[in-house]
Amino acid sequence: MNNPLKDKHVILGITGSIAAYKGVDLASKLTQAGAIVDVILTESACKFVSPLSCQSVTGRKAFIETDLWGGEGHVVHVALGHRASLVIIAPASANTLAKLAAGIADNLLTVTVLASSAPLLIAPAMDADMFDKPVTQANVQKLRGYGAVIVGPESGHLASGLVGPGRMTEPLEITNQARFMMSRNGSLAGRKVVVTAGGTSEAIDPVRVITNRSSGKQGYALAQAALDLGADVTLISTTRQLPVPAGARLIEVISAQDMLEAVNQSIAGTDLLIMAAAVADFRPFKVSGQKIKKESGLPVINLEKTVDILKEVAKKREQTGFPRRVIGFAAESESLITNAQKKVKQKQLDLIAANDISSSDAGFEVDTNQVVLLHPDGTSRDLGLRTKMEAAQEILATAAIWFEHS
Ligand code: CTP
Repeated sequence: MNNPLKDKHVILGITGSIAAYKGVDLASKLTQAGAIVDVILTESACKFVSPLSCQSVTGRKAFIETDLWGGEGHVVHVALGHRASLVIIAPASANTLAKLAAGIADNLLTVTVLASSAPLLIAPAMDADMFDKPVTQANVQKLRGYGAVIVGPESGHLASGLVGPGRMTEPLEITNQARFMMSRNGSLAGRKVVVTAGGTSEAIDPVRVITNRSSGKQGYALAQAALDLGADVTLISTTRQLPVPAGARLIEVISAQDMLEAVNQSIAGTDLLIMAAAVADFRPFKVSGQKIKKESGLPVINLEKTVDILKEVAKKREQTGFPRRVIGFAAESESLITNAQKKVKQKQLDLIAANDISSSDAGFEVDTNQVVLLHPDGTSRDLGLRTKMEAAQEILATAAIWFEHS
């Protein structure tokens, strides 16, 4: 399974803005993601960046104004527009926004947009005063109304010296948004998937916590893999360090109790719950309201059990039928298969992904994982050493089969 951008024809329109250099970076990132990128530069864009820069990163001809009337005749825009799966305009100047909102087609880029029925992603970039102008705001609203996805602009320092909204959204974020837009027809389209990620923290006092070494990387990879297959994804996460996959609905939590409540609130109507989080099994029985002082001597911290979220989910599922399918994880340092098999039964799972956390290239913090998938009927599949993204794709591919005919 690949990135949904793989082999997709993408038109990238670059217009006259100082952010045009970021357009070249975007062309490069889209190409690296596997897209076939046709860049169209407006005349003003060519004053900032050259077609050669674009050609060099895409490996394809970059189109300029004279191509509208060039050797291929008047149909170049129709050909480009028709074969596109996605049209991106980044940076989009105030002038181009106005033209698109009015349906004006007076250059190769705007005429191609008009000729294409592909989804349109627009990343405006201009000075803050220009963006704030009622006419620009009205144009943005109008384009939204026509179905365009508007990304940004971000606030920050602008070329004019002003600070405000106007900076083009970073190319990586636009690429991720494009990835999301190209994934909507996948095998999990319309399916509701909830993923938990990261390790919970249990307070001792206002300063100290008991936590674990989970980074959240496997959970985030699962969320991305589910999005790539078209699912509507809710990500319940303790992690603040990782970029949230574009299109995911994020619920931030800290403790096992928070996570339990977030899961309970999210599972109505859910097709698939994936509990990848490392949930604390114990928490301090009493949380000190004040910082525990050294002078008071060595503290004794009594613990109590937290709720087993998956066992609670199993009870709810018996009553409501949701979530329709549940996948758990088993982090084990010994007797991997035996322990994971017990958990699959006790927690009434449809699948458990067992990983040996004693190995240095698997488990917490690293980018790779060594996962064995175990089904309740005792069958298993060893995925071997994989990146967490590859492991996530395998797990989601297995889950997608469950929903093929239901
Ligand atoms: N889990 C849960 N609620 C908890 C603890 C764990 O829902 N309070 C989930 C985890 O998200 C994971 C699965 O249960 O999907 C197994 O977690 P793991 O830590 O491997 O097992 P535990 O049930 O906590 O048992 P032990 O720590 O004794 O191995």
